[in-house]
Amino acid sequence: MKADNQLSIRRYRRHAAGYDASARRTMHLRRRAVALLDLKPGDVVLDVGAGTGLSYELLLAGVGGQGCVLACEQSPEMFDLAQARVARHGWHNVWHANLPAESVELPQVVDAILFNYVHDILRTPQALANILRQARPGARIALAGMKYFPWWVGPLNLLPWLKNRPYNARPGDLWQPWNLVSSHCEDFAWEATQLGMGYLARGRLRAG
Ligand SMILES: C[S@@+](CC[C@H](N)C(=O)[O-])C[C@H]1O[C@@H](n2cnc3c(N)ncnc32)[C@H](O)[C@@H]1O
Repeated sequence: MKADNQLSIRRYRRHAAGYDASARRTMHLRRRAVALLDLKPGDVVLDVGAGTGLSYELLLAGVGGQGCVLACEQSPEMFDLAQARVARHGWHNVWHANLPAESVELPQVVDAILFNYVHDILRTPQALANILRQARPGARIALAGMKYFPWWVGPLNLLPWLKNRPYNARPGDLWQPWNLVSSHCEDFAWEATQLGMGYLARGRLRAG
């Protein structure tokens, strides 16, 4: 495993217990990101870097009883909480693994992919290649996360960098965090959120 993955795992060891409380303020963006997936009953949706499984309920509501939620999460502490969530709710159509996005092997081809606040994964070509090869052409993709304000705001950009630093192995690289994914997509579009410090984006996986 690479040094960046190890650093991230160490960081989420500290964040896991307080993660759900800290994620409450971005719940509205999570809902909007899931809505961008336009899930249909029976779909197979993948939650990449699923954390504590905070998106599972929304995703399950979209795919229904005939569909399935797949997920991968590399932090053992975050994954334990996701497992506890699944057990607590008795969800039977969630398959998830405590594995990095770089190497996870999914049990099914996916129709839709959620990248919610997973900056490190978005900036790792090996992780993206492994995930995208397991999706069908045309798969719907939604992303949400932090980005820099426009360049002319200058020093204000210290704020997103500082907010990102405790969580991500690569806190910089926030100009266009979606651009490795968008290079694999058609119909890609993004919009700024949080006064320009965040983004929501969606696209469809291009064939080939
Ligand atoms: C900010 S949290 C977001 C969690 C979840 N997506 C959510 O919306 O609540 C980022 C998550 O990505 C996970 N992560 C980072 N790099 C990863 C990788 N290479 N493979 C799998 N998970 C990774 C971290 O362990 C952490 O749980």
